[in-house]
Amino acid sequence: MVDSDGLLRGKVVLITGASSGIGAAAARVFAGEGAAVVLAARREARLAALVAELTDKGHPASAVLCDVTRAEDARRAVAHALRHHGRLDGAFNNAGRGGDLTPLHEMDDDVYDAILDTNVRGLWNCLRAEIAAMLPTGGGAIVNNSSVGGLVAIPTAAPYVASKHAVVGFTRAAADEYAGRGVRVNAVAPGSTLSEITADWYARNPGLQDRIHASVPQGRTAAPEEVAEAAAWLLSDRSSYVTGTVLPVDGGYVNR
Ligand SMILES: NC(=O)c1ccc[n+]([C@@H]2O[C@H](COP(=O)([O-])OP(=O)(O)OC[C@H]3O[C@@H](n4cnc5c(N)ncnc54)[C@H](O)[C@@H]3O)[C@@H](O)[C@H]2O)c1
Repeated sequence: MVDSDGLLRGKVVLITGASSGIGAAAARVFAGEGAAVVLAARREARLAALVAELTDKGHPASAVLCDVTRAEDARRAVAHALRHHGRLDGAFNNAGRGGDLTPLHEMDDDVYDAILDTNVRGLWNCLRAEIAAMLPTGGGAIVNNSSVGGLVAIPTAAPYVASKHAVVGFTRAAADEYAGRGVRVNAVAPGSTLSEITADWYARNPGLQDRIHASVPQGRTAAPEEVAEAAAWLLSDRSSYVTGTVLPVDGGYVNR
C-alpha cells in the first residue's frame, strides 16, 4: 500500500465485512487515500484492533457492529457514519460468504439460506440504507463485491454463483435507477484472492491452489489490496462517468 495525496481525500466511506480479508485491506487502502473509514462487521475485537491501527497512524476511523443480514443493523451502520462523520460519500459492500465445494444436488437448504441471506439480502439491506443517506447530500458512490462467480460459472459452488450474479443484478438496477440523482453504483469481481478462507481452502484441498493458478493467465492468487485498489478508484471522483459496470480483478480469468 502506498500513501498518496488522496484519491478519497475528505470522503466518508463505509466498509462492510471490514474485520478481515479484502474488507480489512480496503480499510487500510481507503484510509491511506484520505478517507474517513467506518468499519462495519460482526467481530468486535478485530474491528477495535483495526480502528486502533488506523487512528494511531492519524487516519479517521470508527467501528460499528453490523450483521448485514439484519436490516436494522445496516441502518445502524449508516446512522453511525452520519453521526460520527457527518455524511456518507461512499460504501464498499464487501461482506459475503462462500461455501464448501459441494455438488449442487448434495447441498442442504441451510447452505443456500446462509449464502443467499448474506450475499443477497445483506446487499439489499445495505443498499437501501446507504442510498437513502446519500440522496440528501447530492449523491455518492457504491461498490459491491461480486466475484468472477458473478460473471461465469465456477465449479461446485452453485448458491454462491447465483448469489454473486444477483450482486451484479442489484448493481445494474441501482446504477440505472439513481444515475440521475448523483449515486454511482459499480461492482468488482475478484478472482481467487488471498484471505483466511482461501488459505484454509488451499490447506484442506491439496492441489487446489495449483489448479486455480493454472486457470489464471497471471498464474497467481491476488493480494487483497489489489481488489481494494480497484474499489478505491471506483469510489473516487476519478471514475465519475463509470456506473453500472462490473470490473473483474482476476488476473485475466474471465477473459480467457
Ligand atoms: N477471497 C476470494 O478469493 C474472493 C473472490 C471473489 C469474491 N470474494 C468476495 O470478497 C468478499 C470478502 O471476502 P474475503 O475473501 O475477504 O473473505 P473474508 O471471510 O475474510 O471476508 C468476508 C467478511 O465478511 C464478513 N461477513 C460475513 N457475513 C457477514 C454478515 N452477515 N454481516 C457482516 N459481515 C459479514 C466476515 O466476517 C468477513 O469479515 C466476499 O463478499 C467474497 O465473496 C472473495
